[in-house]
Amino acid sequence: MSTESIIQKLDFLRKTIEHHNYLYYVEAKPEISDFEYDSLYRELEELELQYPDFVVPHSPTQKVGGQVLSEFEDFPHSVPMLSLDNTYNEEELTAFHNRVIKILGEDKITYTVEPKIDGVGISIRYENGILQRALTRGNGDVGDDVTINVKTIKSIPSRLHPDDPPAIWEARGEIFIPKADFLKLNEEREQNGEDRFANPRNCTAGSLKLLDSAEVAKRPLDAVFYTIGEISDTTIYSQKNLLDELTRLGLKTPDFYRECQSIEDVIKAINELESLRDQFSCELDGAVVKVNNFDFQNVLGFTAKSPRWAIAYKFESEKAITTIQDITIQVGRTGTLTPVAELEPVFLSGTTVSRATLHNFEEVARKDIRIGDEVEIEKAGEIIPAVLRSLKNARDGSEKEISQPVNCPECQAPVTVLEDEVAVRCTNFECPKQVKERIIHFASRGAMDIETLGEALVELLVDNHFISNPGDIYNFNNDQIEHLKSCEGLGETSIEKLLLKIEDSKSNPPWRLLFGLGIRHVGAKSSKTLIRHFNSIPALASASEEELIDIHDIGPVVAESIYTYFRDEKNSLILEKLKNCGLKLSEDIKEIQNSFFTGKTCVLTGTLGTYKRDVLKNRLSDLGANVTGSVSTNTDYLIVGENAGSKLQKAEKLGVKIINENELIELLENP
Ligand code: IVH
Repeated sequence: MSTESIIQKLDFLRKTIEHHNYLYYVEAKPEISDFEYDSLYRELEELELQYPDFVVPHSPTQKVGGQVLSEFEDFPHSVPMLSLDNTYNEEELTAFHNRVIKILGEDKITYTVEPKIDGVGISIRYENGILQRALTRGNGDVGDDVTINVKTIKSIPSRLHPDDPPAIWEARGEIFIPKADFLKLNEEREQNGEDRFANPRNCTAGSLKLLDSAEVAKRPLDAVFYTIGEISDTTIYSQKNLLDELTRLGLKTPDFYRECQSIEDVIKAINELESLRDQFSCELDGAVVKVNNFDFQNVLGFTAKSPRWAIAYKFESEKAITTIQDITIQVGRTGTLTPVAELEPVFLSGTTVSRATLHNFEEVARKDIRIGDEVEIEKAGEIIPAVLRSLKNARDGSEKEISQPVNCPECQAPVTVLEDEVAVRCTNFECPKQVKERIIHFASRGAMDIETLGEALVELLVDNHFISNPGDIYNFNNDQIEHLKSCEGLGETSIEKLLLKIEDSKSNPPWRLLFGLGIRHVGAKSSKTLIRHFNSIPALASASEEELIDIHDIGPVVAESIYTYFRDEKNSLILEKLKNCGLKLSEDIKEIQNSFFTGKTCVLTGTLGTYKRDVLKNRLSDLGANVTGSVSTNTDYLIVGENAGSKLQKAEKLGVKIINENELIELLENP
């Protein structure tokens, strides 16, 4: 291909992919199937791999991140990033309107009403249409340069849509995590033994400040834009016109917008927005009212802190007062002790709330929360009930303070506080509650998927001393089975079904077993990655920490957790037991007569993060490939990882076909 046609092809693919990204992430109206999208994406990836000199930073392939920073640099805003004054009722809103008409000497003013999105403010600078820099608000004059992280956000274009983009365009808006994605993320974190985020905003802020952009790429961040910093276009004349222009440029704008001719209409629009609040995919904490006309905005100008042409109207988050009847302590799978407020049931934002997490003992002490206290509770970010404060004046002296436990409430074993953590943990591996939680996790849908082995049954089995670890469920004796059949609510059929499901689970793929072991920070996805790399749990168990860190997607925290887990004899014993019960610890080597690789000569080069070298070589040989060390005219395929060197050049010169890591994964999974 001539240089010109390569560039043309690359540009065509990028534009097409960007267009489909826009339809999917901004408009939520995809026009092609995932398969068609993946094919386009892979075609671009391949071409870029073949012609690395033509890779550009705004290419859609660069959205997966990869760059790691040691810290974020400060960078000055070209135009200060101000904040908004808040109002809380109609009087304050009317006072704002009166200030506006007084300055303008005009009472026919058009206002706009938009949602106030509860996320993290961002300013993104495009130069000649290309995303150059993304800054957080910081102190308003200087922000943190989070460009590499923002570039991973799917709904933010790396390049503005029009062919003749403005020379400078700073779009300002809000980064957020949709409510549904937030709940899912928290659930996953819980399953992985990680701390939950308190609300979507904290989660967004934490995600934007991650130093590893590949991690950021995995967070479900989204963004909308509603204002500007420096722009070279001088023709924008109103907020409405600005929102239209943002849309034309390919940027997402808020889902709700009203134009109002009077302050009464503004109030109506705000009420309408508030009534729709629950239906928004992201959290709103109010409405923003703006003078529509930019000439008027210019006359009104700014105070030191905020524009005089806009105001926020904050929605009340629904709160309620109730009494803490008790504070119980929950013990999790990894032994974490969490204080939970047992509340006198109270109706709040659509549901009856009778429990609220108090997160940890440090927080209980800081907020001075006692049993018997009247407390104010709130659905923090509309989702999780939280105890805001205790009403100290309402105390009568009968309230009871609780202190950080010294012993586990379930098994009385001493507790520890790990360095750098607030969590208090039960140290007893045999703690019945930990045992139960571990087995519940083992049998759960995402892990070994043993239907019917739910919470209640696990409780019964552990309490009867029938089981104390996952290995035991594969070893019931006849007496135990008879006993279970006679238990109330169980019966012959359900026990037979249970035993069948348990038996079936033995043939689960090893990643399910690995996930089921419940190693801290090892979720379903990392389990798959690890098995792909090592092919078996015993090989993983003997890996060094360095070896683990080298695997793509496995960070130091996960690596340490895995390393420590397998150095603990108790865990090795459980694994041994599971192996003896006939569970699959290794991926089957499928004997395939006619695979893609049969009779083909392959050479490996570069760092292949996904697979361990010898595992990969064996796998390829099993599929009939002849794996050799150097590229020649006899080579059919060169399999390239990162930082490939001279072998890649030679292969290109000889016209040897190249397989990248993603393609390799696909080919090995469907040989
Ligand atoms: S306009 C000069 N519009 O709320 C400031 N801000 O509390 C113009 N926010 O800093 C801001 N939704 O981060 C504007 N529709 C909206 C907004 C919005 C959320 C945030 C923004 C701002 C903060 C002020």
